[in-house]
Amino acid sequence: MAVLVTGGAGYIGSHVVRLLVERGDDVLVVDDFSTGIENRVEGLPLVSLDLAAPDAEDRLVAAIEEHSVDSIIHFAAKKQVGESVERPLLYYRQNIGGLTNVLGAAERTGIESLVFSSSAATYGMPDVEMVAEDLDCRPINPYGETKLIGEWMIDNAITAAKMRGDTFKAVKLRYFNVAGAGWPELADTAVMNLIPIVLERVAAGKAPIVFGNDYDTPDGTCIRDYVHVKDLAEAHIASLDYMKSDDEPAETVFNVGTGKGASVKEVIDAIAEATDREIVPEMGERRAGDPPALVADVSRISAQLSWKAEFGLEEIVRSAVDAAGMSPTSK
Ligand SMILES: NC(=O)c1ccc[n+]([C@@H]2O[C@H](COP(=O)([O-])OP(=O)(O)OC[C@H]3O[C@@H](n4cnc5c(N)ncnc54)[C@H](O)[C@@H]3O)[C@@H](O)[C@H]2O)c1
Repeated sequence: MAVLVTGGAGYIGSHVVRLLVERGDDVLVVDDFSTGIENRVEGLPLVSLDLAAPDAEDRLVAAIEEHSVDSIIHFAAKKQVGESVERPLLYYRQNIGGLTNVLGAAERTGIESLVFSSSAATYGMPDVEMVAEDLDCRPINPYGETKLIGEWMIDNAITAAKMRGDTFKAVKLRYFNVAGAGWPELADTAVMNLIPIVLERVAAGKAPIVFGNDYDTPDGTCIRDYVHVKDLAEAHIASLDYMKSDDEPAETVFNVGTGKGASVKEVIDAIAEATDREIVPEMGERRAGDPPALVADVSRISAQLSWKAEFGLEEIVRSAVDAAGMSPTSK
């Protein structure tokens, strides 16, 4: 039996594909390469398909049957918050449309388990620093809304499968700030998150910009929970294994983070240390919609999946710096 990985040519998906292959699982990748890179999944069975296309459900059914797929990990989605505000329909069409086709194909082929890439963006601007899964979700942008609606669609699919007497289990993982590289060639090439942005500015000889240093945090800059992409990838493997048990999963939604926050200033300092360069950031205005601190309560994932992040900020930054060829030894 094989695992179907949608978005497997992406940053996170390709790390999970690598771990699955390493442990001997058969893998089928489905990707439209809108942001994915084919080299990351070279040599593996691959279907090039836009999951939101009108014929996607039928094509998925054919691929699932041909490759004897029994579980799906669904990464494929658009993920830029700012773009989602400018082009909300694109996000609904792609993220909700794509998931609709995946769930339709899963139902038609009797897929038994699904792991879904959700996000801490489902929480919005909570007024607590440490967020647990049962907190009220109030996303503040269309991207976060598509992830929350995705979770509801999956819950509905679980209920409907139960009513039909079918087995269908799912785990929704709410990722916090994903960073680093498990293998240099799988590194994040999109410059959209803090660490890649700072690295790009430093490489270009420019000062990184800090958006607000007057937040109510110890050093005034925003605090986030940075999780190593390899740890996150392991959480997907743990989720698949969790669903293999005969019991019904006790929980279906999990935060994936370290449970420890790092401020923007601490991240920049860690990059300065790992690159052995002096970095003096420029101070900018606060951005709308940035909560002062957002850190994952990871008690549920630790209790249910026996998963815990192995790597901390230093290892995350070092792996990103190495992958970017910016460590002192590669100068
Ligand atoms: N990177 C993060 O910090 C982060 C945080 C929270 C959640 N997520 C979620 O994790 C998932 C993976 O993110 P990533 O960082 O690896 O992004 P990515 O852009 O590197 O990967 C997404 C992959 O999906 C493919 N894809 C997109 N739309 C598709 C479609 N309609 N049909 C087929 N393939 C399609 C892309 O080509 C790409 O290979 C996304 O669902 C994202 O929302 C990411």
